[in-house]
Amino acid sequence: MEFHTQVPGSYVIVDHSIFRAFNKGALAILKVDGAENKAIYSGKEVDSVYLGDRAGGNLAAVTTAAKAHAAGTLTKDEQIAAGKQLFVGTCSVCHQADGAGLANVFPPLAKSDYLAADPKRAISIVTHGLTGKVTVNGHEYDSVMPPMAQLTDDEVANILTYVMNSWDNPGGQISKEDVAKVRAEPAPTTAAPAH
Ligand code: HEC
Repeated sequence: MEFHTQVPGSYVIVDHSIFRAFNKGALAILKVDGAENKAIYSGKEVDSVYLGDRAGGNLAAVTTAAKAHAAGTLTKDEQIAAGKQLFVGTCSVCHQADGAGLANVFPPLAKSDYLAADPKRAISIVTHGLTGKVTVNGHEYDSVMPPMAQLTDDEVANILTYVMNSWDNPGGQISKEDVAKVRAEPAPTTAAPAH
């Protein structure tokens, strides 16, 4: 194998078996001196946090909601619009974009009788997670949902308001005060029984 470089700089060499890299130190930095070639590397680096699908215009509704909230004018529709964007980035990997879940693995949020029975319980599920047996629309799930502790009270309120007003769910509205209250309560040790 032949390896050559075309511009100077610090090249990080990583063994792509990530565990080996960390456990046995198979990481290195190769320092290369020499003439620059701006056509290959401009020398400019972007100094910002990588946000993936959280970056850019798709969070416009969230920004609008945050501003409206600061002004005390957040409507239910604004909560729903912001919640939709956040749902896509946070919940849809498991519960799917259409809320249908994944058979035997992730329970549905669409027309979920478990959700409809106690919408406030959903706040605890998002802030504290959920483990153990739950029955949703007649199907049993026995899995783990990790707590979504990275979400602020606002974000949880908006996501749940979106969920409750989508896919033929019964509607309703969750406020950030509701979320703050449930978050402060101790996490339930086992899943609450389905009603
Ligand atoms: C990593 C996968 C994953 C993510 C991400 C996730 N969930 Fe869950 N969720 C689960 C699993 C698994 C269960 C069932 C847990 C059990 O069996 O005890 C569940 C259960 C639920 C339930 C109760 C059951 C039902 O279907 O009504 C609600 C409500 C819920 N999740 C909402 C959310 C919301 C809202 C988000 C985003 C903020 C989210 N979940 C993110 C995996 C996930």
